[in-house]
Amino acid sequence: MTVQLGDTAPDFTQDSTEGPISLHAYLGDSWGVLFSHPADFTPVCTTELGAVARLKGEFDKRNVKVLGLSVDPLESHNVWAADIKETQGCALNFPLIADKDRTVSDLYGMIHPNANDTLTVRSVFIIGPDKKVKLTLTYPASTGRNFQEILRVIDSLQLTAKHKVATPADWQQGDDCIIVPAVTNEQAKTLFPGGFTEVKPYLRTVKQPGS
Ligand code: BEZ
Repeated sequence: MTVQLGDTAPDFTQDSTEGPISLHAYLGDSWGVLFSHPADFTPVCTTELGAVARLKGEFDKRNVKVLGLSVDPLESHNVWAADIKETQGCALNFPLIADKDRTVSDLYGMIHPNANDTLTVRSVFIIGPDKKVKLTLTYPASTGRNFQEILRVIDSLQLTAKHKVATPADWQQGDDCIIVPAVTNEQAKTLFPGGFTEVKPYLRTVKQPGS
């Protein structure tokens, strides 16, 4: 199955290092990041899980619940967790799904048979509070992901949801934003009382709302 932007994130119940998790109930009103990695006890994956654990406070601040996943069994996750704590300067502090029977991997298309027919690739799904998929990413096994970029996308998505602004190329917190095309100039005057700049009729910039 392929999960695309705007789809409802498929619901599932699966074992995890924090007990059985039913995705929709677990997320509640939060945002979610579901990400898969190829296998336990592999070097790149170990650094990724450590990186996400160190960023837990940043995800919490944004009301985001993070879930990792591989097709390894729970017993393996639990033993590997000790290695993550020992080597990454931070213990695992979010659930790691043990998708031994591939329920979730199949639902989300996380196994790409031409890359590897048994292991999950490095997929990322950002899920909104409405349970819709807002971002999908697929990385090769040999490239560890940049989780600062995942946070940057979440910031952008949350600005769009709250203030009807988009973010330009290479945008970072505090940079100017772009007024979405669906907002007319008349509406923009009300939405952005501090004013905005019309570079072109289709390119209108505004100070980052709420900053
Ligand atoms: C790793 O996590 O290091 C890894 C996993 C599968 C293939 C290559 C690298």
